[in-house]
Amino acid sequence: MLIALLPGDGIGPEVTEQAVRVLDAVTGDALSFERGLVGGAAYKAVGHPLPPETLDLARRADAILFGAVGDPDCDALERHLRPEQAILGLRKELGLFANLRPARLFPELADASALRPEVAARIDLVIVRETNGDVYFGEKGMRTTADGLREGYDIMSYNEAEVARIARVGFETARARRGRLCSVDKANVLETSQLWRDVVIEVSRNYPDVTLNHMYVDNAAMQLVRDPGQFDVIVTGNLFGDILSDQASMCAGSIGMLPSATLNSRSQGLYEPIHGSAPDIAGQGKANPLATILSAAMMLRYSLGKAAEADRIEAAVAAALAAGARSPDLGGRMSTAEMGDAVLAAL
Ligand code: NAD
Ligand code: IPM
Ligand code: MN
Repeated sequence: MLIALLPGDGIGPEVTEQAVRVLDAVTGDALSFERGLVGGAAYKAVGHPLPPETLDLARRADAILFGAVGDPDCDALERHLRPEQAILGLRKELGLFANLRPARLFPELADASALRPEVAARIDLVIVRETNGDVYFGEKGMRTTADGLREGYDIMSYNEAEVARIARVGFETARARRGRLCSVDKANVLETSQLWRDVVIEVSRNYPDVTLNHMYVDNAAMQLVRDPGQFDVIVTGNLFGDILSDQASMCAGSIGMLPSATLNSRSQGLYEPIHGSAPDIAGQGKANPLATILSAAMMLRYSLGKAAEADRIEAAVAAALAAGARSPDLGGRMSTAEMGDAVLAAL
């Protein structure tokens, strides 16, 4: 099976290296990795953040393992050349619309959560985030108003087909878990969200076994911190899901712990940690690789039909944490490679 390995920028190469070590250990030689350039690294090498060869590799691969993109050197480039366009382009070009971001607390990390341990202990949820639409992909630009002021704009929109297909993923995900779906929107203000809510209700008629509720995003942000245990599955749009998942990560201990899978309708998937390239710690061996290692486990489960191997990796992460493995974000001193070693030792 061919894995497109796209390390990217900053800590991306550091964390994907550890994930590849772990994958090699559990799959032997069943996977073959082909490396591609993405992000600032690709821009610097060949002048584009998502070169055609990389896109072609991603299309050919059985799955994509992605690190992170983003480079402060590139922040002044025209938008279409910025590193972030690589991940946005991959999601769009491959139709990767369903981004699953599970957040649960490994019991050993109760002390690392930003919440009181008894509140944090209850977090076990999945955010189902739409990643092909919303304000991310609407018309955008800069213009000058009639009175000579600079004005930036980004159009937010969803059509009913886009909402219905992500709603179905939300309901299916809830059905396979505890049967509760919370749809998060801002329907009290946004037309986009009113359509979202109407369509989610229409789709719910096919899922009488799933309990649906609706929440405004501001309240959802508050409820995530007040009592994350109330959520089973959250389905939401691209922007709200981006923000809520970073927030959920701190309830679960660290942004360095949350993996993700982004799937298309052909069950092809891109697997990446939810965090970015972390320029502030890049190159220092401080990055926590567990989010990427857990993303590799999701890849085995969702794209490669290797659920037993995925279980082994998740159990090894839990065992490594139980044995005291802690990178700086978790309050410890272990390096990125030592965290990888700890998972390998547990395997
Ligand atoms: P970030 O997620 O890169 O970092 C936020 C904070 O969390 C930083 O203090 C960082 O050191 C810390 N952090 C992140 N991952 C960590 C890990 N594995 N272990 C320990 N600490 C970790 O977000 P940012 O600083 O807002 O963005 C930096 C760059 O990354 C930007 O260019 C941004 O656009 C990009 N980004 C890319 C992705 C992606 O590739 N999917 C996701 C988010 C941000
Ligand atoms: C993420 C990131 C990306 C997003 C950026 C880098 C485009 O924040 O994957 O969560 O907003 O989707
Ligand atoms: Mn994000």
